Amino acid sequence: MSFWTRRKAIDTAHAGHDGPALKKTLSWPHLVALGVGAIVGTGIYTLTGVGAGLAGPGVILSFLIAGAVCACAALCYAELSTMIPASGSAYTYSYVAMGEPVAWVIGWSLILEYTLVCAAVAVGWSAHAQGLFKMIGTPDFLLAGPHAGGLVNLPAVIISMAVAGLLALGTRESATVNMVLVVIKIAALAVFVALCLPAFDASHFTPFMPKGFAANAGPDGVKVGVMAAASLIFFAFYGFDAVSTAAEETKNPKRDLTIGIVGSMAACTAIYMIVAAVSIGASRTEVFSASEAPLVFILETLKHPKIAAGVALAAVIALPTVILAFMYGQSRIFFVMARDGLLPRALSRVNAKTGTPVLMTLLTGVLAAVLSGLLPLKEIAELANAGTLAAFIAVGASVIVLRLREPGRQRVFSTPAWPVVTGGAILGCLYLFASLPAKTQHYFLYAQLIGLAIYFLYGVRRSVLAQGSPPTK
Ligand code: ALA
Repeated sequence: MSFWTRRKAIDTAHAGHDGPALKKTLSWPHLVALGVGAIVGTGIYTLTGVGAGLAGPGVILSFLIAGAVCACAALCYAELSTMIPASGSAYTYSYVAMGEPVAWVIGWSLILEYTLVCAAVAVGWSAHAQGLFKMIGTPDFLLAGPHAGGLVNLPAVIISMAVAGLLALGTRESATVNMVLVVIKIAALAVFVALCLPAFDASHFTPFMPKGFAANAGPDGVKVGVMAAASLIFFAFYGFDAVSTAAEETKNPKRDLTIGIVGSMAACTAIYMIVAAVSIGASRTEVFSASEAPLVFILETLKHPKIAAGVALAAVIALPTVILAFMYGQSRIFFVMARDGLLPRALSRVNAKTGTPVLMTLLTGVLAAVLSGLLPLKEIAELANAGTLAAFIAVGASVIVLRLREPGRQRVFSTPAWPVVTGGAILGCLYLFASLPAKTQHYFLYAQLIGLAIYFLYGVRRSVLAQGSPPTK
């Protein structure tokens, strides 16, 4: 069979996952908490400032647009994750729907994305931990990468390696810890909103879109405007695949998943828009956009230094779990791709003692440490977004392909108004991709070319399907 037509059959997609069925204990409030826990992180705590710098007050609209596109993608994830309850997320769905080469591109994009998300969140964490590191006498040149006049962003390096170490030892986030962290993250944002409201000045909202709507390159070549900001702060929304992966453990998937996914997405969109609105009301976008920890900065300018320190501490405590979740996701994707024969199995070998792929995890940690130690947050986040957008487009396309090819197959959860929702996901993601900086788009294409070279040198022959096993349907 030509590699081009190799597809996994739905019924064999979960090979290797025939363990006992998971207990159905979750209901929609758990799922909303799970979603909010995985989603809220560096995006709102740090990128709000960068986004405001790109769009002005119109950044509120950027949050709305990115949230709406993600909600469409989230509904597609829900349909596929209940139909194909196997690890590997968008990679596996693409393998079933569109075949091996597309699956490889998506798997490679996910590997890129997950590593970059870890690096980006590490930089955001560092921005909030600077005070603590200064207190213990860390010199300035070890607190920022070369782009900001320093040598290396040491706090970001430390947190990347620390989380990788914990993960390699077998640490998993528990539902209880997640719940506590959700409360900490949201409480800090609620306190922020409450303290900004008395200082609200509506005149800060005009002009609303000083840099226009579409992403246009300014005189220095940097794309600005509401869409440029949307393509960056899109970062703030993902992580909801965590909800769809809990499908098997959900009591009433049809109702609970819909409310869980749409609910966490709507909740985050609302929270983000409120945080952005009060930030702008309390301090002009030109003022706070330069800060790497804009919420903390705004509270300081409002003369609440202690509470500002509290918000920074909340970020320091809560953000590492976002890194943990993505590093874990990274090792799962890699593991599944190696099991399919597309990547060397030796890299994802599970350590008998810890039960974790130690080599793979540490490799991800080192890569995230290097990237976060040397590069600016905006560039890392934008490249992570390119990979995620590719995955979301593939998920939307997979829903369409399977709806047409297997209309009669039972769907535990059906995406409502699927032609509209899949179209919203695909076209929305394409528009966001087009709004990314040209440099990011080029880097993404180079990364894909490297990926394809690896596929044609290795995976195309080593693929389990190339060995003639499980037939496609
Ligand atoms: N949505 C996650 C964050 O903002 C990745 O940190």
